[in-house]
Amino acid sequence: MNDTSFMILPDKEKEQKTLNYRNLGSLLSYTSDEKENLLEIKCENGYVSVIFYREDIVRIIMNPKKVPSKKTSLAVVKEPENVLVEIEESPELLKASSRKLTLVINKSTVNVSIYDPKGRLIVSDSDNGMGTNEKQEVICYKRMDKDDHYYGFGEKTSFLDKRGERMTMWNTDVYAPHNPEIDSLYQSIPYFMTIRQGYAYGIFLDNPSKTVFDMKSSMDTYSFSAETGPLDYYVFAGPTPKNVLEQYTTITGKMPIPPKWALGYHQSRYSYKSEAEVRELVKTFKEKNIPLDAVYLDIHYMDGYRVFTFDENKFPNPKKLIQDLKDEGVHVVPIVDPGVKEDPEYFAYQEGVNGNHFCEYLEGNIYYGNVWPGNSAFPDFTNNEVRKWWGDKHEYYTKMGIEGVWNDMNEPAVFNETKTMDLKVMHKNDGDPKTHRELHNLYGFLMGEATYEGMKAQLDGKRPFLLTRAGYAGVQRYASVWTGDNRSFWEHLQMAIPMCLNLGVSGVPFCGPDVGGFAHDSNGQLLTRWTQFGTFTPYFRNHSVLESIRQEPWSFGEEYEQVIKKYIQERYVWLPYLYTLFREASVTGLPVMRPLVLEYPLDKHTFNLSDQFMIGTDVIVAPILKPDTYHRVVYLPEGTWVNYWTEEKLTGGKHHLIEAALDILPIFVKEGAIITQGTVKSSTETKESELSIHIYPKENGESSFTYYEDDGSTFAYEDGAYFEVKIQVKMENNRLNLSFHNLSDQYQPDWDKAVVTLHKVREDLKIAVNGKEQLNVEFTGENKITLPIKIQDL
Ligand code: GLC
Repeated sequence: MNDTSFMILPDKEKEQKTLNYRNLGSLLSYTSDEKENLLEIKCENGYVSVIFYREDIVRIIMNPKKVPSKKTSLAVVKEPENVLVEIEESPELLKASSRKLTLVINKSTVNVSIYDPKGRLIVSDSDNGMGTNEKQEVICYKRMDKDDHYYGFGEKTSFLDKRGERMTMWNTDVYAPHNPEIDSLYQSIPYFMTIRQGYAYGIFLDNPSKTVFDMKSSMDTYSFSAETGPLDYYVFAGPTPKNVLEQYTTITGKMPIPPKWALGYHQSRYSYKSEAEVRELVKTFKEKNIPLDAVYLDIHYMDGYRVFTFDENKFPNPKKLIQDLKDEGVHVVPIVDPGVKEDPEYFAYQEGVNGNHFCEYLEGNIYYGNVWPGNSAFPDFTNNEVRKWWGDKHEYYTKMGIEGVWNDMNEPAVFNETKTMDLKVMHKNDGDPKTHRELHNLYGFLMGEATYEGMKAQLDGKRPFLLTRAGYAGVQRYASVWTGDNRSFWEHLQMAIPMCLNLGVSGVPFCGPDVGGFAHDSNGQLLTRWTQFGTFTPYFRNHSVLESIRQEPWSFGEEYEQVIKKYIQERYVWLPYLYTLFREASVTGLPVMRPLVLEYPLDKHTFNLSDQFMIGTDVIVAPILKPDTYHRVVYLPEGTWVNYWTEEKLTGGKHHLIEAALDILPIFVKEGAIITQGTVKSSTETKESELSIHIYPKENGESSFTYYEDDGSTFAYEDGAYFEVKIQVKMENNRLNLSFHNLSDQYQPDWDKAVVTLHKVREDLKIAVNGKEQLNVEFTGENKITLPIKIQDL
């Protein structure tokens, strides 16, 4: 009945019940520690602690009942620094200032306002301030400015700007539908960034229970609330959007550089069901010369869906299969779900029960839920010792040569009405027991930590690759994220752009959707356009559901296959550029794929631009997102841009109508850009033979790019084993100075020669490299000049 119009029966208008709200009341007293970077405030109706983590990061914790505990969730990796804080008091106000922000507390309401050193208001509580409602939910109300735009919130449907949305953070297995009405998906990242007139600040509510961000119900106020636990949040003072991301990822950590093979093209299907089928698949890729770096094994590889097993009939010799494929440059990535089959004759279940590793009720009985293997128990990842046990179990895979694992169903998903575990389960949580209701959103994150750390310990210095469906703030430290069970709809291709952009703004640079769409049937055009988009999504995997039409690159005939192949190859051409951006993400927290608003926060055309994106600072990608469409409008911000395919110059600050035949993904490069590219290869295992450096010089301008490379597979880069060169271009009166500054040569690249291509230049251009006049240059007649460079010159 609920799925029919009966839902809107005229007499059935819902009671609009507002829950009684009580704010903190006035400030009664306060104390500060010696360094004054911790304030403890007692109010009429609760307690507030203020801790400066850095000059530009402040944590505020409110507990209605007692002095707040300073313990953080496991998402937080940062300890407070020694910040010098100055405290001032007047009859009305209490002020605490670092060199980068001033926090002002109104003593009669305990409302908090935060200013920058010049007195600009960064963010302030609205009249309601902080408090609780009759359900004991903690809430904070903040002022919404008419110019506010909101980004982040992890993995959400709908458009880029979340102003006007109400979003719930509750990790949920949503098979269908993924549409604008769905406000909880698999990931919960209770963090966002506000951009207002070019300035930005961020807020991270560190609470893994159900939290709600309401940017919808009022025109001048927004709120965030948590169903249980304290109101524990961090304010990041910006002032730029990029500063906010750096601040947020200082608290929750950065992504390590992924192994290079994880950045190639990946092929998946639910499921490739036998060794023969997997071998045949890889053979077809090789025969057709389509690059491939990984093949996934979905749940059918297991013996009755028991994790840490292979079905011996279908996969008689997995170790040999894995080795043989590796010899061809292809990695095998098996799925590992958390549910352990209840089977007294199964070792993993026995170990879990004997070791007390499974989630239990307070009374001591194990919680069971129904998932693929049937009745199953779930590891209690909140206990360190259980994470260790689970991580160690991955030896089963790593001993076979597996270096990457795919975690799924880790919300955790359970086939029942609530879609998850009983909220009454009592997690052991390393001696600080809490219910599942209190910790739900951490489950997938902790499984990720267990898996990643386990594999890392086993891989002898090699970088593990982990893909996860569920996660919480900080998930970037362990895993890449795919956006779950989308469908082969054009609408879902459209939706994937803002979804990935907001994941990037939420500190998760390594993400992507199932290319081609998971459920429903794909088709040639959709798969082609989706693969074009996939060339530039940080994570690039084609995956589809049981019984859907096959969607490997060749599934829809020659015409589509050729274009799909071209774009998979193009991924490998762009990889040296993407890899440098992945390195940047690991240092700064900035995403590889980013919304234009991150680069142009003052340009109103970028505020809700949801159908195009940037790769780094200089490249705009504008995919075709509709069937039978061979043109589209593209917005180019200020500056001059060059159409990557036609080399046409386009003026920025306006919209352009761009042609895009089936084999064209519109790409634009900003004047001044320096783009490093590699060659087409069958997988990332093939050595790079030559580096191409494409320069789009700016008339009478200067620009630079720092190119990065390392071995792509170990952690040696953490000890400085990398190659880094700063490429600088200066163009003046038809004279171009190109210089290379070697910043590190602790790693020797495979290629020994680079070719520089200068785009949109005149034949009589005078060129000097590192101060030496160049005569050995070739003008190709398309306004391009090429010149070879020896690695010794770099
Ligand atoms: C879930 C996953 C999907 C996977 C399937 C079977 O639906 O999201 O990717 O193929 O389970 O394991």
